[in-house]
Parts: sequence; structure tokens; C-alpha cells
Amino acid sequence: MSETQTVVDGLLGKITSQGALVGIIGLGYVGLPLALAFIEKGFRVLGFDVDPSKVEALAAGESYIKHLDPARVLAAAKTGRFLATTDFGRLDEPDAILICVPTPLTPQRQPDMSYVEGSAEKIRERLRKGQLVVLESTTYPGTTDELVCGILEKSGLRSGKDFFLAFSPEREDPGNRDYGTTTIPKVVGGVDAHSLTLAKALYDQAIARTIPVSSARAAEAAKLTENIFRAVNIALVNELKVVYDRMGIDVWEVLDAASTKPFGFMRFNPGPGWGGHCIPLDPFYLSWKAREYGASTAFIELAGEVNVEMPHYVVNKLQLALNERGKPIKGMKVLVLGVAYKKDIDDPRESPAFEVFELLRQLGASLSYHDPHIPRTPSMRSWPHLQPMESLPLTPETLAAHDAVVIVTDHSVVDYGLVLEHASLIVDTRGVFRQVNPKVVKA
Ligand SMILES: NC(=O)c1ccc[n+]([C@@H]2O[C@H](COP(=O)([O-])OP(=O)(O)OC[C@H]3O[C@@H](n4cnc5c(N)ncnc54)[C@H](O)[C@@H]3O)[C@@H](O)[C@H]2O)c1
Repeated sequence: MSETQTVVDGLLGKITSQGALVGIIGLGYVGLPLALAFIEKGFRVLGFDVDPSKVEALAAGESYIKHLDPARVLAAAKTGRFLATTDFGRLDEPDAILICVPTPLTPQRQPDMSYVEGSAEKIRERLRKGQLVVLESTTYPGTTDELVCGILEKSGLRSGKDFFLAFSPEREDPGNRDYGTTTIPKVVGGVDAHSLTLAKALYDQAIARTIPVSSARAAEAAKLTENIFRAVNIALVNELKVVYDRMGIDVWEVLDAASTKPFGFMRFNPGPGWGGHCIPLDPFYLSWKAREYGASTAFIELAGEVNVEMPHYVVNKLQLALNERGKPIKGMKVLVLGVAYKKDIDDPRESPAFEVFELLRQLGASLSYHDPHIPRTPSMRSWPHLQPMESLPLTPETLAAHDAVVIVTDHSVVDYGLVLEHASLIVDTRGVFRQVNPKVVKA
């Protein structure tokens, strides 16, 4: 038996007997649920994060992600098998290291690989024979086998021989009650055959179904394809919304009707734009890489153009509605309802609400908001002029004190009957109010 095969068999044995120590770098929306999934299957997990407040919270058995059941985090802490640390010197301890760090865009809208590169550098410093490294962060095809592999091999160890390297995209859908980390099928692609075998074996322990593909690149491309599909379809339905509105046709009625087709149609709903850490960013990872191959990505660019225009469309609708009431937007009190990027979650990242705020600010409106899940707006790199705000209580007095309410995110717990009763003007971007009402403007 070759030396490599002996190393592979040794790690495989640890994985299948749940004796492997799983390391997770980045304990955020993706990394923390993943850590819990492995702990709940009997593994020991060593989490790494640069944020000491997260490490402290986990040591105390506290969750900092609202939609994650705190009882699960407490139970994980009580097992004694979950430890989190800021000490990256311990990266030689885990048998498998899963990288779940952010992959944002730079201000020039290019992939910001600094978090992935930084994590790979930290692993390289402590890399030892027989470790499996899996990148989970969404990224362009080639990241794992070019960028990460290149950094790790600077250690002198060889991928596929001394250590193993794979990509397995995360499909976490925060707030989804039907699917969670362990029930969402997981695509896995190895840089080589041994890496695939090991990475698949690891995820098979915790995830109900794994889907092996021929390469890390195929797995990277699969994830981007899923999110590009969403980005393009969101743009399409937003474009249709604008066209049908001009024609006096209600897009929501159209979608209800079109959705009755049992095949060949998949419903997407219009809204105030696009948001979150994934859909507005990930497609541009492919656009960027495609340029290296002289290929264009016209659909991605077009989806960007249409979706980025939506907050302008919404604010324009508000302006017209106020105008009809003889009011200028300057000086008007506008309450934005919902600032999370989608309903029933507490994540404001890349939410179109902030672009709506910024446009209203530029027009001189007075801004406030209500979001039951976000008590205070964080400062946002992309909107430096917006001051942090606190969520106002949604009371008859609050609603009556504003000239308009703009529904950006349709959280389920909001009492929309109360809103309809007490607001003087409602701009509804989410189809909350389907009946024609003089107070409601669909946008
Ligand atoms: N949030 C989602 O729903 C979702 C879904 C699918 C894929 N993804 C992808 O997963 C990746 C992670 O996203 P997320 O939503 O979990 O991000 P997040 O911001 O919630 O979590 C990232 C964590 O990494 C930590 N971190 C930052 N730099 C670090 C470093 N150098 N070393 C160690 N830890 C570091 C942060 O403190 C944070 O706790 C991204 O590539 C994202 O595109 C996210």
C-alpha cells in the first residue's frame, strides 16, 4: 500500500468513526450551523473566528444568530465537544478544516479574496500531513485548485498526497423552516480523487445527501449557477413589474395566474431590488473570472442593472404619490417597514432598504424605520452618509405621525391591518396588500 493510501485510510477511519476533530474557520451564518450539525452527530468541533465576542458567546452557550435555536447552541456547549477560539496556532489540531469566511466584493466590485487568502495562510503555517481542507465560501471556479492550493503547497506539503483539498458550497437559507444545514443536499468536488473521497465521507456523516462532482471547479460553478439563476429571475420579474404597471396590469395577479401552470414556470416575486450576502455579489465572481477567458456575462450584467434600479423605482413611486397629495418629498416623514434583506430574518446585509434610505436622504426626507428583528441599523460601508437609527415601535401613533410608510421587507409578525388603518400612504413593494385601496401604491 502506498504511503498516501495509508494516510487516506487513516483519516477515513477517523471520519467514519466520528473520531475526527472538525475545525471550522468563520463561525457566522454558515459556520455556526455547520458546527452544530457535526456536534449533533457526535463529532468534536474546534471553531476559529477573529471575533472574540463570538468565541465568548459560544463559550457561554449563547447564540448570536437570531433564527438559530439558542437551545441547540446551549446543548452543544454542554456536550463539552464544542470549543471556539481566536487562537489560529491551534490549526494543526483538526483533522478536517472547513473554511466558512466571507467572500465580499471590493468597492470596485471585484472578488475580495482577502478572507479566504488569510485563512489559507493561517492553515499553511500549521499544516500537517493527513489534514483535509474544504473551502465552503462562495467563490469563482478555480479558487480552490489555484489560489488555496497554491498557498497551502508553499508549506512544502503536496495536495492529494500529504494533505487533501476540496470545495463544497454552502446552500444555507436562513429562516427556511423546511430545509436546514443537514437536510439541504450538499455538492462536493475534490481537487483530486482522494480529496473527494475524504470530503464526501466527512459530509456523509452529518448531511442527509451529498452529491459528488468531478472537480472543485464544477462544485464552485454549481453554487454560482444557483445564485445567478436567482439573480436573473429576480431581475426578470422586476422588469415585468415595471412594464405591467405602465399597462395598468397588477403583476401579483399575473404571477398568481402564471403559477398555476404545473410545469415550465417557476415563480419569482418582484420587490425593492436584491439583497443579502449572496445574490447581489456572487454573480460578479463569475463575471470577473469570465474576463480571464475572454467571455462576456451579459445576463449577469443586465440582472445587475435592473435590480440596482429598483430602489430608484420605489422612491420615484413614493415621490409621485406624495405629489398627487400636494406634498413635496423634502421634509416628509417616511417610515421604512422592514430593513432585513428578506422576511423573517435579522440580517440587514446589502438590503435594498439602505439604498431606499440613501435616496430618501438625498431628497431631504426625514427617515425612520420599524423592523421587529433589527432593533438598530448597523453602520454600512456602502452607505457612509446614513446615520445609525433605532427601530420605532409600530403603534397607531407612529404610523399616524408619518407622511408615508414604505414596505421594503414583509416580515410575518407585522400587523398589516394596523398599518392599513393608521398610515396615510403606503408604498408596498412586496404585494402585502392585494386589494385596490386609495392609500396603497404598489411599487
Ligand atoms: N449567509 C448565507 O446565507 C450564505 C449562504 C450560502 C453561502 N454563503 C457563503 O458562505 C460564506 C460565509 O458567509 P456567512 O454568511 O457565514 O458570513 P458571516 O459574516 O456571517 O460569517 C463569517 C464569519 O467569519 C469570521 N471571520 C472573518 N474573517 C475571518 C478570518 N480571517 N478568520 C476567521 N474568521 C473570520 C467573522 O467574524 C464571521 O463570524 C460566504 O462566502 C458566503 O457567500 C452564505
